[in-house]
Amino acid sequence: MQRLAMSWRRQGISIGFVPTMGYLHEGHLNLMRRARRVVGEDGIVIVSIYVNPTQFSPSEDFSSYPRDPKRDLRLCGEEGVDVVFTPEDRHIYFRDTAAAYSTYVVEESLSGVMEGESRPTHFRGVTTIVAKLFNLVLPTHAVFGEKDFQQAAVIKRMVRDLHFPVKIVTAPTSRESDGLAISSRNKYLNQEQRADAVVLWRCIETARKLVRDNSSGIEAGRLRDGLMRIFSDYASARPDYIEFFDEALLTPVSRVRKGHRMALAVYVGETRLIDNARL
Ligand code: PAF
Repeated sequence: MQRLAMSWRRQGISIGFVPTMGYLHEGHLNLMRRARRVVGEDGIVIVSIYVNPTQFSPSEDFSSYPRDPKRDLRLCGEEGVDVVFTPEDRHIYFRDTAAAYSTYVVEESLSGVMEGESRPTHFRGVTTIVAKLFNLVLPTHAVFGEKDFQQAAVIKRMVRDLHFPVKIVTAPTSRESDGLAISSRNKYLNQEQRADAVVLWRCIETARKLVRDNSSGIEAGRLRDGLMRIFSDYASARPDYIEFFDEALLTPVSRVRKGHRMALAVYVGETRLIDNARL
């Protein structure tokens, strides 16, 4: 992969990269289309498919994470992707060698809140694998979804701090017709849970309306309490966190105004779903 990428870069060809964990859905396809628009028909679009073990904690769903490599390859072909890079654990973490893997990339500021509080080792795994993939794929541009807003912010910080020569592009969240953000983990939901999963979007829409109707803003605690009450209509859903923050630094705001961002994580049954939006 690296040799191929180097030869393209030497010829001045742009490389648009979409890192994924597979089980591709419309959200991923939109990222691929975005990558193609960014690099143009003369550029190369590369998609990686790799379920990265280091971003899952031992209690999380690494082994059951949905996988369908045949379908993924077909979808990439239909989207006109030039290269699908599917490394294996032994290539990435050298598990079959005597010398254990021992180098990690850690972002120390933005990674500590929200997802980082609920999943303390998650972003270390993400920054490590993305840095490694950048070194293998040598992209000029990499596309990340806004659905993982905090992940995109952490990656942008890593790219700036470590001087990676890549431009990070973000693309809007793809949603089902009832507002549920499209995610590979939606597959885990049974019928009742799928109906209840709309609670995330209902919280976002409610917060948006309240904030836009109150030009002086709303106290964050009061807004959160109001949103928590919505959960009584959704038996299988329970909130993990609801946060309101400044988009640039991810710092919490005490008074929520139009233009601030909201993020939430919710357990629907055993499945943990996340979403976020600008208010
Ligand atoms: O967003 C994802 O699917 C993953 O976190 C990523 C960026 C592919 C790294 O494994």
